[in-house]
Amino acid sequence: MSRILLTSKLFDDAMGPLADHDLVIPKPQGSMTTEEITLSAGDVQAIVCQLTDRIGEAVFASAPGLEVVATVSVGYDNVDVAAATRAKVAVCNTPGVLAETTADLAFALILSASRVLSDSERDLRKGNWKKWELDGYLGRDVHGATLGLIGYGRIGQAVARRAEGFSMRVIHHDLAPTGLPGYVADLDELLRQADIVSLHVPLTPETHHLVDARRLAIMKPTAVLVNTARGPVVDEEALGAALESGRLFAAGIDVYEHEPHVHPRLLAAPRAVLLPHIGSASFATRLAMANLATSAVADVLAGIRPANTVNPEVFDK
Ligand code: DGY
Repeated sequence: MSRILLTSKLFDDAMGPLADHDLVIPKPQGSMTTEEITLSAGDVQAIVCQLTDRIGEAVFASAPGLEVVATVSVGYDNVDVAAATRAKVAVCNTPGVLAETTADLAFALILSASRVLSDSERDLRKGNWKKWELDGYLGRDVHGATLGLIGYGRIGQAVARRAEGFSMRVIHHDLAPTGLPGYVADLDELLRQADIVSLHVPLTPETHHLVDARRLAIMKPTAVLVNTARGPVVDEEALGAALESGRLFAAGIDVYEHEPHVHPRLLAAPRAVLLPHIGSASFATRLAMANLATSAVADVLAGIRPANTVNPEVFDK
């Protein structure tokens, strides 16, 4: 029996794989600070964390018996993987199970930002919709538009499949050539061509502020930007300014640089659809993510290498 720290309570239906272990859940109702995790990790062999938890050098230093950290997310920028690898701790994430659900939400944002759904619904609720007008709430057509996907992994490709049904022309860019039809090697060129740009890259030092003021200025003034990846991939200050000035038509945003804080310029910007990081938030998908994380932990503790280990080199002797 091993001791496992859960930084937050998971769904009961995802706890099966951990049934034989001793669970530590210090704050069932909320996530823990890094300091609290560090203080609680001293005698555990595994940690199941969430994307809101920062698992860095201090945690690994305080947990000499730690074998695995599983984050209930596909993104693992919340875990210092280099520090984990140095400490010989496996880091597992939840790829695959959330791709379709996140692509659904990205497409919902493509539609709602392009057709100005937030602003028009807000007006209706406030009683500001006085009459039908020929030029009222005009948006941009999604059908037939050119969709530029930045990042063409599972989620990007799932968005591309949805775009087929809307007769869109789909182009994509990735950090390495994909060898697939529609690949555009030059990111700036993709930004020039696209009517709608949707982001699907992980957060790394290379993708931090990938979409900055210069790149926003390259985009068509009629373009729509959608971000369901990670907030810091976009310079929020620059995005807010581009929306305010009309330099960019609209944005659909699910992720933010300093969650749950939302940049005031984005909150005030016109034609911005803003959601609280719900890309993977369906009942089935969140349960599948939790199950994948608990199964990975159980596997590592049983001496099995899970396929969803981001630093599999730790298993090499
Ligand atoms: C992830 O898994 O990284 C998403 O941001 C939340 O589902």
